[in-house]
Amino acid sequence: MSIETIGVVGAGQMGGGIAHVAALSGKNVVLVDVTGELVSRGLKTIEKNLGRQAEKGKITSQAREEARARITAGTDLTLLGGCQLVVEAIVEQEAAKRDLFGKLDTIVPAGGILASNTSSISITRLAAATNRPEKFIGMHFMNPVPVMVLVEVIRGIATSGETVAAVCDLAREMGKTPVECRDYPGFVSNRVLMPMLNEAIFAVFEGVATPDAVDSIMKLGMNHPMGPLTLADFIGLDTCLSILRVLHSGLGDDKYRPCPLLVQMVDAGWLGRKSGRGFYRYSGPGGDRIPS
Ligand code: CAA
Repeated sequence: MSIETIGVVGAGQMGGGIAHVAALSGKNVVLVDVTGELVSRGLKTIEKNLGRQAEKGKITSQAREEARARITAGTDLTLLGGCQLVVEAIVEQEAAKRDLFGKLDTIVPAGGILASNTSSISITRLAAATNRPEKFIGMHFMNPVPVMVLVEVIRGIATSGETVAAVCDLAREMGKTPVECRDYPGFVSNRVLMPMLNEAIFAVFEGVATPDAVDSIMKLGMNHPMGPLTLADFIGLDTCLSILRVLHSGLGDDKYRPCPLLVQMVDAGWLGRKSGRGFYRYSGPGGDRIPS
């Protein structure tokens, strides 16, 4: 089955990125978020990132305009009624996702696929909020979506082979490389990534080094494109904490215990780049880093 019309719920950095890449690959996209302000902010970011690609000569200005024209957006979930696949990219909270999928199940035609971009929540449990668990799947994009090549494809206990094949084909059409794994806490990407970020936070918490020093050591010594604390700020400290909690409770091992400093920063509303403050300071929510 060829998927030509895609719905995306959540116009934040992940949802916006998914809509951007899908539209650029020739798909019709319907982007939905809860308020008009979130929708227009998401569209603005998409326009900015398409513009950046056009300026750098990665895409033509015609491709940029056509991609933008393929995206329709709004706040009403019923706009998704004509989609063959809907990807959810809302806040990383299980109750909110289950509630959304229950609604989508009544809106998206029975043959349509429901996918979650969750970074760690059980695909099998989210699928249980719908009446189509065989058509439910994890489609986990990486941030920034227009740049990162991987899509981690997660098969829940009931996901059909046909659904996996359709989603892998779609990911390839979007210029991505799908890699399959089973539904298990943190899947693979975050089971491996988050303990490293948590350990970097413990190094700061225990006074071993400053955030700048930890990041420089990992960048210069391990050739990471971003230091772990810059990356944690970029992903969002609340998202990192949610994922660590899923790993901690799901795998039952204290090695995944979130660092108390991370918990405290999230309690303070210091969520990283998106809130203007995390391990570093930014010019405003989503702004550029202010040199320290
Ligand atoms: N849209 C379009 N293009 C973008 C972009 C965006 N949002 N962000 C960056 N780019 C492009 C830039 O235009 C630039 O293009 P050129 O090579 O043509 O110049 C290229 O990406 C590199 O960007 P910059 O020069 O601005 O900066 P950089 O070299 O520092 O790279 C980065 C930025 C690609 C983000 C790089 O730092 C990086 O790879 N960081 C690690 C990212 C990472 O690990 N992501 C995974 C996070 S985990 C996750 O997402 C999953 C989860 O569940 C938590």
